[in-house]
Amino acid sequence: MRQIQSILQFLFLLLGLYGTLRVQPVQGKLASVEERKSYIVYMGHLHESEDSVSAAHMSLLQKVMGSDAAPGCLLHSYKRSLNGFVAMLTEEEANIISEFDEVVSVFPNGKNKLHTTRSWDFMGFSKQVKRTPLESDVIIGVLDTGIWPESKSFDDQGFGPPPSRWKGACEVSNFTCNNKIIGARYYRDNLTFSDTDFLSPRDSDGHGTHCASTIAGNHVDMASLYGFAYGTARGGVPSARIAVYKVCWFDSCDDAGILAAFDDAIADGVDIISASFGGSAKSYFTDSTAIGSFHAMKAGILTSNSAGNKGPKPFTVSSVSPWLLSVAASTIDREFITKVQIGDGKIYEGLSINTFDLNGSMYPFIYGGDAPNKAGGFNSSESSLCSENSLDPNIVRDKIVLCQGLKTNGPFLAGAAGVVSAADIAKDIASIFPLPESDVSSMDAANIYSYIHSTSYPTATIFKSEEKKDTFAPYVASFSSRGPNPITLDILKPDITAPGVHILAAWSLANPISKVIGDQRFAPYNIISGTSMACPHASAVAAYVKSFHPTWSPAAIKSSLMTTAHLMSQKINTDAEFAYGAGHIDPLRALNPGLIYDADETDYVKFLCGQGYDTRRLQAVTGDQSTCTAANNGTTWDLNYPSFAASTSNSGAVYRTFTRIVTNVGYDSSVYRSTVFAPVGLKIQVSPSMLSFKSIGEKVSYQVTVEGTINNSVESASLVWEDGVHQVRSPIVVFQVGNN
Ligand SMILES: *[C@@H]1O[C@H](CO)[C@@H](O)[C@H](O)[C@H]1NC(C)=O
Ligand SMILES: *[C@@H]1O[C@H](CO)[C@@H](O)[C@H](O)[C@H]1NC(C)=O
Ligand SMILES: *[C@@H]1O[C@H](CO)[C@@H](O)[C@H](O)[C@H]1NC(C)=O
Ligand SMILES: *[C@@H]1O[C@H](CO)[C@@H](O)[C@H](O)[C@H]1NC(C)=O
Ligand SMILES: *[C@@H]1O[C@H](CO)[C@@H](O)[C@H](O)[C@H]1NC(C)=O
Ligand SMILES: *[C@@H]1O[C@H](CO)[C@@H](O)[C@H](O)[C@H]1NC(C)=O
Repeated sequence: MRQIQSILQFLFLLLGLYGTLRVQPVQGKLASVEERKSYIVYMGHLHESEDSVSAAHMSLLQKVMGSDAAPGCLLHSYKRSLNGFVAMLTEEEANIISEFDEVVSVFPNGKNKLHTTRSWDFMGFSKQVKRTPLESDVIIGVLDTGIWPESKSFDDQGFGPPPSRWKGACEVSNFTCNNKIIGARYYRDNLTFSDTDFLSPRDSDGHGTHCASTIAGNHVDMASLYGFAYGTARGGVPSARIAVYKVCWFDSCDDAGILAAFDDAIADGVDIISASFGGSAKSYFTDSTAIGSFHAMKAGILTSNSAGNKGPKPFTVSSVSPWLLSVAASTIDREFITKVQIGDGKIYEGLSINTFDLNGSMYPFIYGGDAPNKAGGFNSSESSLCSENSLDPNIVRDKIVLCQGLKTNGPFLAGAAGVVSAADIAKDIASIFPLPESDVSSMDAANIYSYIHSTSYPTATIFKSEEKKDTFAPYVASFSSRGPNPITLDILKPDITAPGVHILAAWSLANPISKVIGDQRFAPYNIISGTSMACPHASAVAAYVKSFHPTWSPAAIKSSLMTTAHLMSQKINTDAEFAYGAGHIDPLRALNPGLIYDADETDYVKFLCGQGYDTRRLQAVTGDQSTCTAANNGTTWDLNYPSFAASTSNSGAVYRTFTRIVTNVGYDSSVYRSTVFAPVGLKIQVSPSMLSFKSIGEKVSYQVTVEGTINNSVESASLVWEDGVHQVRSPIVVFQVGNN
């Protein structure tokens, strides 16, 4: 049977019909096809059986396209967990379809970007923490670049068969699943294909392998990157299972594939979804991750999503839906410095992860601006940036080059021996380059530049990096996207921060550690940074909480992570909550939050009514008769969220009331008292200020009123409920928006 399947698969490959998403040219209608683009038609809740759903999609297309509606126009039907399809449409057709009653939204199939293992110890989460046998029943859906199945991190020794409820599949092709990686699917709707990628769940990049092993990788002793970050590599829930959904390829992660992966992952039966990618923030029903995670939430699955790597500017957070967890990236106490010595004996310290050892040999040293590739038509202002092809290989070969900026493929391709670059950006991350490199400050670079131009034979050497302890950690990385939330101002985003800088985890053997073609260094573990690396830490903690509390809702798990988070320093993190949300994730405390802020589909629908989404669209999404009336028109401030945000205009004056409901998950009988921390000038009242519970599961509501005038653009306060054992903390942020 297997054999027949693989023969069929092979034939499909030959016919170009591979994958789940099939693209066929439309016969005889090439002119109109060229005007068509791939659009996603989102239709909400799924009612019918699989077969009739596709037929319904086709007949909807026929209504608009008439006889043009060849089968090839319908690229994919979402029909396992949510309703909708992908089709090649003209803009006009897309507009017509968006008016149909059964359609919630129509949006172009856009592109998203991908945004150890000391990190767990750093969080106080040791190898010996208590675990439940139920951990091996937890299935994590990882939507990413695929996985490297042969990595030791995914060995299935000691694992039993997958949980019996598992309905996933292993769409094998140059790939084997096991009892650790229990599912693997891939989504590719584009016939354009890079020969460096695999048409398989196999990871040609490393990113997906890195994320999956951070979540659920086995304990692997003596792991390191060429000796750096030496220790035990491990995931947060090493007994959990992994289901791989490859949605990201050499070019991007497209919306159609992301939504198809959610459609499958939910139906397959994953417990937590980890999504380390994003685009720009979009309204809720035109964003594939927002839609997918909404349906996941309906099915009891929490989605953990990276906040984005577009910081430190405000309003850059791209993960904004209230039903998912948005994760910022912070440092761990591991940093790397790389020393540069120049001919006059002076030593400068720069950043990078440099595994190369030049043994202290001095090399000729030249400024990129003095070596333009004139034959290639480049001038010296271009070659000073050392961009690709801008340097004359005959001049820079075997020399160390001083460059302005961080892009160093130029010197590598030109055969340079090393690079000293001046990049004041990204002071907090050290990156890996294809040749010896150190990024110095621009002040140091200016001194180095003077040296080069003051001697006839300038020389330099670059040392292997040294690992150092960063005593300021944790702080939020500059690249981590910041709030406020560009879609709904008064839902605080990001939600939480987790380690995302200098993380060692498993890697794909198909990509060099610098990701630069030509670099000969391939390694099973690599050190990289990004909110992409922070997200899997949060996914793992969510899975850890889920293993102890299998019945908790996505909102309950999210609440437990947020209200138990560690306070972060506002002195170091000047963007405060807009950088770190509720604070730094704390896996052990998250198990036992005392109170939770629960919410379900009804609550989010009320919220969406208040956001102006109409009854027709919401009925399509929920699949029931819920209507937006004045009575269930929820305000942003009454959504049962574990944090509080109140925006104000330029005047800085604020008067805002929030309503919340807490559910007791601590002791049967308990009394919680509120404490408010607020800056002078901001009056925050909590009513009632004491909450008594008689049983587990009991719900009690309270109100918070924030009143006053703020003089800074952002003021942070907080509310803490305490029963003598638990501390349930929520940040309160008041901030000005306007044209000042
Ligand atoms: C397929 O991908 C390539 C490379 O990213 C892109 O140039 C091309 O436009 C894509 N084609 C379609 C039909 O999306
Ligand atoms: C299959 O995977 C191996 C790595 O294990 C790779 O070298 C090879 O190119 C892959 N083959 C295809 C057809 O993708
Ligand atoms: C540095 O020394 C080691 C050990 O002798 C040698 O293997 C390596 O090639 C040397 N590196 C360079 C750049 O000369
Ligand atoms: C160098 O070339 C760039 C791109 O062609 C051009 O914009 C720039 O003005 C040139 N600079 C000088 C100093 O000639
Ligand atoms: C709900 O509130 C929003 C925002 O105030 C308003 O735009 C909308 O018309 C209201 N809907 C209903 C049904 O009251
Ligand atoms: C803002 O300034 C006013 C006037 O100086 C002061 O009364 C108020 O307390 C200040 N507010 C805060 C939040 O510091």
